[in-house]
Parts: sequence; C-alpha cells; structure tokens
Amino acid sequence: MRRPLVAGNWKMHGTRASVAELIRGLRQLALPVGVEIAVIPPALYVTQVVTGLEGKAIGVGAQNCAVEPMQGALTGEIAASQLADSGCAYVLVGHSERRQILGESEAMLSRKFAAAQACGLIPILCIGETLAQREAGKTLEVVQRQLGSVIEQLGVGAFARAVVAYEPVWAIGTGLTASPEQAQEVHASIRAQLRTESADVARGVRILYGGSVKAANAAELFAMPDIDGGLIGGASLNADEFGAICRAAGS
Ligand code: 13P
Repeated sequence: MRRPLVAGNWKMHGTRASVAELIRGLRQLALPVGVEIAVIPPALYVTQVVTGLEGKAIGVGAQNCAVEPMQGALTGEIAASQLADSGCAYVLVGHSERRQILGESEAMLSRKFAAAQACGLIPILCIGETLAQREAGKTLEVVQRQLGSVIEQLGVGAFARAVVAYEPVWAIGTGLTASPEQAQEVHASIRAQLRTESADVARGVRILYGGSVKAANAAELFAMPDIDGGLIGGASLNADEFGAICRAAGS
C-alpha cells in the first residue's frame, strides 16, 4: 500500500508575519493518520517553519535546489546539503513555473534530482503538459518525455526514493482542475512507463496530482487508483482548507 502524501507548495508567498500565522493554523489542525503531510515554503522561511512545526507531524520541503549537491561557489543558489541541514526532507524539482519562466532544462533537472537524493532529500519531480499540448493530443507524449529524461539520466531505481507530481500546466492557479478520469489516465501512464523498467518501483512510487486542488474536489481525485495524494498551491495557504484536503487523502 502506498502511503498518501499531501504537500503544500507555498510558492513565492509569505512574510514572516503571515508565515507565523499559517504555522499557528497548521499546529491546530487535526491530522489524519496514515497520510504523510508536508509544507514547502520559500527557502527564506524554511527555518521558521521547521522550528514552528516542531512536534507536529508535518514535514518541510524546499521549492528548488542547486545542481551541485554540496555548498560552494554558486551565488544565489542553495545546495541540497544546506536544505537537509536546515531540516528539509523534500525538494520540488522541475515545477512548471521554473521550467517555463526560468527556462530550467531537463539536463539541469536531472542534476538537481540527483543532488537532492545525494543529500538524503526526497525529490518531487513535477511534470505536466500545457493547454496547447493537451489540445494537440500530446499529453502522454510530453509527460513520458519529461519522466523519461530523468529515467535515462539516473535510472529507474532513482524513483524508489522519489515522488512524481503530475501537474497539468493549464490547471495550475486557474481554477480549472483535470477531471479525476483525465488525471487518472495520465497517472496510470506514468506508472506504466516506470513498470516497463521495474515493477517494484512502479508499485511503490507515489504519484501526486496538482492543479487547483481544493477541499471541494480533493476526495474524488484521491479516490482514483493511481492518484496517491496532492501537490497543493493556492489552497495550501489557508490552514483549514489544507487540513481538509489532507483529511480527504485519509478517507
Ligand atoms: P494551484 O493549487 O494554486 O493550482 O497550484 C498547483 C501547483 O502548482 C502546486 O505546485
């Protein structure tokens, strides 16, 4: 049985004051048993969140890491080793906002993925198609290429200690959600792609859905057989809403 994971990606949101408020809200949540929960604040607030959530069963992650695992001369970047040292357990790799706006290449993403694992972090590899790609009937092809690029560089075994997040770009921050059936089709294809190389890895890997997940639509998405939780953006900035999504993964 795969343990569901619900992770809240705070993106570039927050101030020290609003983060403190969110921590207070998270601390008060009744959390479901059997669900792994994480929040992913901007790197600047990781320490505040790690300290603030001490004793609460909520892990902390980062939104990005450097291509080099260890500290060194790389101005403006943060090494996976430093994230681990600060109490992170996860790191997002290849979020579509970074692929699209910052031009992160697939070669770079495999290095970040490897750097994260070298430091004991769990990479959460984000993949997904744009609206134009979906309309052109290329969804599965795009997602297979994005996943395939990491498998090719690092081998399927790397996914024994990683999470995949399917996030259709057209569903991110738009209020449009993939239907449970649309999401399931892609999740099943991701798992099938991994299965061609390793049945064990395919069976164990958690595949999260992301893109306008809310308390109101989470349960029907999480009920699908290949959806193992969610990567939540906007709705994770509200502790009560996030808590309700986490509980939906437990039911
Ligand atoms: P929204 O939940 O705001 O659509 O964001 C999804 C996302 O990009 C999470 O990484």
